[in-house]
Amino acid sequence: LAPARVLGIETSCDETAAAVVENGRALLSSVVASQVDIHAQYGGVFPEVASRQHIQTIYAIVDEALQRAHLGLSDIDAIAVTRGPGLAGSLVIGVNLAKGLAIAQNLPLIGVNHLEGHIYSAWLYPADAPSPPQPPEFPLLALLVSGGHTELILIHQHLEYQRLGGTLDDAAGEAFDKVARLLGLPYPGGPSIQKAAQDGNPQAFTFPRARLEGTWNFSFSGLKTAVLRTVRDLESRGRNLPIADLAASFQVAVVEILVQKTFHAAKVYQAKAILVAGGVSANEALRNAFLSQREFPVHIPPLSLCTDNAAMIAAAGYFHYIAGERHPLNLDVLPNWTL
Ligand code: KG4
Ligand code: ZN
Repeated sequence: LAPARVLGIETSCDETAAAVVENGRALLSSVVASQVDIHAQYGGVFPEVASRQHIQTIYAIVDEALQRAHLGLSDIDAIAVTRGPGLAGSLVIGVNLAKGLAIAQNLPLIGVNHLEGHIYSAWLYPADAPSPPQPPEFPLLALLVSGGHTELILIHQHLEYQRLGGTLDDAAGEAFDKVARLLGLPYPGGPSIQKAAQDGNPQAFTFPRARLEGTWNFSFSGLKTAVLRTVRDLESRGRNLPIADLAASFQVAVVEILVQKTFHAAKVYQAKAILVAGGVSANEALRNAFLSQREFPVHIPPLSLCTDNAAMIAAAGYFHYIAGERHPLNLDVLPNWTL
């Protein structure tokens, strides 16, 4: 059986990305152009600037992904593209390019949910690995933590999702970004907080943990407000802000909330394994907390695949492709698409 090669395209937010993946798992190439330096001056993603940046770079990024895979468009079997959730104006750039390529090459077009992409990042491995690692086993309990989402999802089978709960207010990544801003740390906040927290005492401040017992939901706005109140209080007393201690105390609270609820759900639903994905899964403290226990096998993608990329879109697209799914050329973007 000839291998199926999927070209993935991702432009949902502030990364312009393309990748080629074989049989949903073997990573032939993955190219990501980050706009982070451009948006940093605004302290967050500026949607109009993002779309324009996508247009300017997407062609070169797709070319680069094909070149690095030593393939031409004629070697590709399907085009997978992020259809949502994300910024409408940014999604449209990727989807329109994908349509153009699908028409030109007469290839199947598959619109992929960005969150599903993050999940499938755990299936990827480098094409030159001596042997493919074991993929995650079902039923699988997934914690999806990104800038826009915090969700607990029970995955029964490939493409079969049951959403257990999610954040009622801020996403985990959003909380990192907002707290970083109020501590005067640069955007994106996650990596800045992690760095600042290295020299801090996580017990210096006790911030609240919203447990929301009896639900699989999360809430981070109270935690964010508690940090804000502490900062205001210290400032009003003319104190220098102990940035490292504040960052470490905030980070440990987020990690504790996420880890506790995820393990609880994994036990209740008798999951065979846990999967942690999305930008916040790049957080070292979170990774260590999950990986230091022996109760469940834990799958967390390598750092390069935690934040937005197109390899995960190609991987998820492949599983839809082999299920026979195809999208028509009038495929529209879905900026608020849930899983
Ligand atoms: O998945 P992603 O790249 O984009 C979305 O789909 O949202 O996630 C971006 C989010 C941002 O909020 C960023 O601050 C957070 O992931 N993030 C981190 C770390 N690296 C990125 N949060 C905590 N620790 C990190 N090391
Ligand atoms: Zn993402």
